[in-house]
Amino acid sequence: MPGKTTPTRDLVNAALAHRSSRRETLKQAAALGLSAPLLGLLGTSGVSAQATPSAATGKLEIFSWWTSPGEAPALEALFKAYSAQYAGVKIVNAAVAGGGGGAAQAVLQTRLQGNNPPDSWQTHIGHELFDQYVSADYADPITDLYDSQGWRDVVPEDLLAQVTKDDQLYAVAVGVHRGNGFWYNKKVVADAGVTVGDTLTLDDFFKAADTFKAKGIPALALGSKDSFVGPQTFENTLLGAIGPESYNKLFAGDLGWDDQSVKDAMTSFAKMLDYVNSDHPALTWDGAVDLVIQGKGAFNSMGDWAYGEFVAKDVTDNIGWVSHPGSQGAFVLVVDCFTLPKGAPDAENARNWLQVIGTKEAQEAFNPLKGSIPARTDVDKTKFSKYHQWSMASFAKDALVPSVAHGEAASPQFKQTMYDATATFIVDKDVDAFSLALVDAAQSDA
Ligand code: GAL
Repeated sequence: MPGKTTPTRDLVNAALAHRSSRRETLKQAAALGLSAPLLGLLGTSGVSAQATPSAATGKLEIFSWWTSPGEAPALEALFKAYSAQYAGVKIVNAAVAGGGGGAAQAVLQTRLQGNNPPDSWQTHIGHELFDQYVSADYADPITDLYDSQGWRDVVPEDLLAQVTKDDQLYAVAVGVHRGNGFWYNKKVVADAGVTVGDTLTLDDFFKAADTFKAKGIPALALGSKDSFVGPQTFENTLLGAIGPESYNKLFAGDLGWDDQSVKDAMTSFAKMLDYVNSDHPALTWDGAVDLVIQGKGAFNSMGDWAYGEFVAKDVTDNIGWVSHPGSQGAFVLVVDCFTLPKGAPDAENARNWLQVIGTKEAQEAFNPLKGSIPARTDVDKTKFSKYHQWSMASFAKDALVPSVAHGEAASPQFKQTMYDATATFIVDKDVDAFSLALVDAAQSDA
């Protein structure tokens, strides 16, 4: 299967080495005026070859799936950063609801095929960006923007590599989500006499789950109405069971989806499903997060956009977190980025949008609300929560692995098979059929 993502102690080391050149870069950036506050920045620095910001008019249509109570204010923070410089441009928020972009991505495809792109759209680094948009010739490179803004020096190489094709860079990463979070309601857990330490094994979870079951509380709040939730819970369970090295081997074609270790992970996933809320097919991901907030569910396996919900609902103090059982030491990358469409209707405004969202200031405003950490490593860490600092530390030292559920690890076809097969598995729990479907999909991709 293409798109092998290197396990990443090496890559991380490279990225860290890269970060040490940050001081130099910042000096250069400062010389260019880049470290000045956003407001009025480009008007005076002469950095941009584009029109004087204040002169820009027209519209800017931004396409995403950020509509949940936590996602929407984070998107708004990016809009605010843009409007602070480009007040004359009318922002059109073309977000299509549906967690993980299930509905949005279909709408976007129709628009792109009909030659009716928005001015920029949200996607994920890796396969999703390359296979759905770059190879299909829907996106223009923005390599010159990376050069003029000095971004290659402040964005880790792991991320740069996954927006680069044939030496051209194609998207601006705004935030790095950690996909393998396991969130819990502190009071519910304490009331049940359960202790959660810095890590949780699968056995620990099942033991706690029995305690919750006896009390009539779903141990695992699940919102499988959003199609990404089942596959994401499975990929986290798989990672926790086989570890990051074997996980990466699956996508490099070096380990089969019918390996016994994979089948065992499927069996564990099936067992976890014995502890979920019965209304999960009718519940969205944020609905399931809400169950935990309300104390009607103990744990939720979710990328840290869940943290954005806790921020929006002002309940961060009541919530604890660990890695999804067994997956400590690994960081599932779910990296949100924005593109420049070929034939963007408002190309100049679109380029300015990408420039703004790539700044330190915009990323410092957006990520505290979104739950992700900035794609830039030169941010002021004191502006971030304890959770964010924990995630930054994990990003710096842990094995980085790509998410299948969010389109980074494998082709769109493989992802779709994973979605369909997981949906079936949640109902029939047939390990052999699940495994076979993924073996077939991997073979077609090879
Ligand atoms: C992911 C995306 C996140 C978050 C999540 C739920 O695909 O990367 O930013 O929005 O879906 O909608």
